[in-house]
Amino acid sequence: MADVQRFTVFGHPIGHSLSPRLHALFAARCGIALEYTATDAPPERFREIVRAFFDGGGRGANVTLPGKRLAFELADVHTLAARRAGVANVLTRLHDGSLEAHNTDGAGLIRDLRERHRIRLDDRRVLLLGAGGAARAAAFALLDAGVRELVLANRTPERARSLADALAQAGRVKLSGWNALDGCDTFDLIVDATSAGVLGVAMPLPRSLVGDATIACDLAYGEAALPFLDWARNAGAAQTIDGLGMLVETAADSFEHWHGLRPDADAALLHLREGEAQPRR
Ligand code: ATR
Repeated sequence: MADVQRFTVFGHPIGHSLSPRLHALFAARCGIALEYTATDAPPERFREIVRAFFDGGGRGANVTLPGKRLAFELADVHTLAARRAGVANVLTRLHDGSLEAHNTDGAGLIRDLRERHRIRLDDRRVLLLGAGGAARAAAFALLDAGVRELVLANRTPERARSLADALAQAGRVKLSGWNALDGCDTFDLIVDATSAGVLGVAMPLPRSLVGDATIACDLAYGEAALPFLDWARNAGAAQTIDGLGMLVETAADSFEHWHGLRPDADAALLHLREGEAQPRR
């Protein structure tokens, strides 16, 4: 066992994480021997726990709530995707011993929408709700994917403004006040990147945002995605998509980042969907 590569996922709480199951599935199908555990890492002990894992020979880790910003901050080097998001969901020990922060959320979202759900993103008018780490990753990725117009709306307007500044595409990126959303026309795609569903807090939104061709996508999955997706269905959305496919794609991206092999994400998603309803993001 001495040379089996060790991986983990850090989060708090961590019992709900699907990452150990996903990476075990990927590894079995790709014929790679590895150990992948779940590690509880409360924010006040996050650095110490992460350091101990990597000092003890750990090769890589995924990071889930609430540690993504801390993971970004403690890394020595950052990929472009991590710098754009300002948070990291993948940590990797490089050959020189330094710790690299990476973010697969944006790429995972686009792969799920475009390749799994066959959604055309170019020339679309998109509303993005939220301006935290998940929203930042989604915003850069949606612009890269060619959307025509990206409207940002966040409860705290300063954060949306600062994301718009970082995106630096004034022609394509617009801001909407949270309370001014009922003055907007319908959107082709509405992406919920807030943590309201995960927190179990209602987020009243005007039905006028939804037309009969609107697609609604929540970055959360399971029960956490239901309030937003139910709202969209009731408002007449053509299609609703939860974040489970995106989660599988982000896991597949981190697997590929570490092992250089692309696992079968569709088979893993089918496996999860056949299992019990999953709780959250
Ligand atoms: P994450 O890493 O999941 O993006 P985050 O950085 O804490 O988490 O960001 C959470 C996002 O959800 C923010 O955009 C937050 O809005 P604020 O910037 O105003 O805090 C948004 N959010 C959380 N609870 C919300 C609620 N009840 N209604 C609307 N937006 C909410």
